[in-house]
Amino acid sequence: MSDPIDRYAVFGNPIEHSKSPFIHARFAEQTGQQLIYTAERVDADDFINAVARFAENNGKGLNITVPFKQDAWQLATQLSERAERAGAVNTLVINGPGDYFGDNTDGTGLVRDLVRNHKLRLEHKNILIVGAGGAVRGVIEPLLSSKPASLTIANRTKHKALQLAEDFSDLGNIKGCGLDEFGTDSYDIIINGTSASLSGELPALSATLINENTFCYDMMYATEPTPFMRWAQQQGAKRVVDGKGMLVEQAAESFRIWRGCEPETAPVIVALSRF
Ligand code: ATR
Repeated sequence: MSDPIDRYAVFGNPIEHSKSPFIHARFAEQTGQQLIYTAERVDADDFINAVARFAENNGKGLNITVPFKQDAWQLATQLSERAERAGAVNTLVINGPGDYFGDNTDGTGLVRDLVRNHKLRLEHKNILIVGAGGAVRGVIEPLLSSKPASLTIANRTKHKALQLAEDFSDLGNIKGCGLDEFGTDSYDIIINGTSASLSGELPALSATLINENTFCYDMMYATEPTPFMRWAQQQGAKRVVDGKGMLVEQAAESFRIWRGCEPETAPVIVALSRF
């Protein structure tokens, strides 16, 4: 009898619009791997049991999305260094029942999208990241590893930005501030890491942050340009992109961790645009 097929899934709530099954199916086709990847909506109080049931049902790995990334961090019996620091897990490797390795591929996904797909150099750049929630915490370490001249975290609730900057201050030139505290400085790269786009809102940002060479990035994947993207375009940013590439790159890094081979992302990014 042949072995049962390896199962993977993304756990979240809501999960209906997840692109992850599509992305991982393309990776599996491309690399000739046999696996099943599904999207599962998990009730808020059922996360731990749902992971255990999945593990018993030949589950080999999970992606974790809103609102369970911190729960997954706590559940993991072992953590990668980057997940430890991020305080959040988006990738679980199931080694056996109750034996879960937690990793976080979001930051690597963002940096790879910026550097490989959008051909940016992050060294010596002044980078502004807006927001100070879980999504931003997950990407700070890989951004600082790319040796920017400075990384500024700006948040509506200022104290969260200050705290985040303090938590990572040993890794590079990072500072926190409120949204209304900029001078006349503009930035080379501005990344929207807030959840404002989800509700069709725009963080209150000053137009002076953007000059004709500024690259603007929304970490959200959107079928239509987000309010942040439209705003950046109106202010004359050089380029404005969404987080589609980050989504595919973080998935590729999860796939590599689970399956030991690195899929090609470029054709999947193109396919996702048409999906
Ligand atoms: P996530 O896991 O997506 O990061 P989160 O931890 O709830 O979600 O964080 C949401 C982030 O988006 C926060 O930085 C939040 O700002 P506050 O800390 O001031 O709440 C930010 N955010 C959400 N809606 C926003 C809006 N309309 N304008 C500015 N910032 C917003």
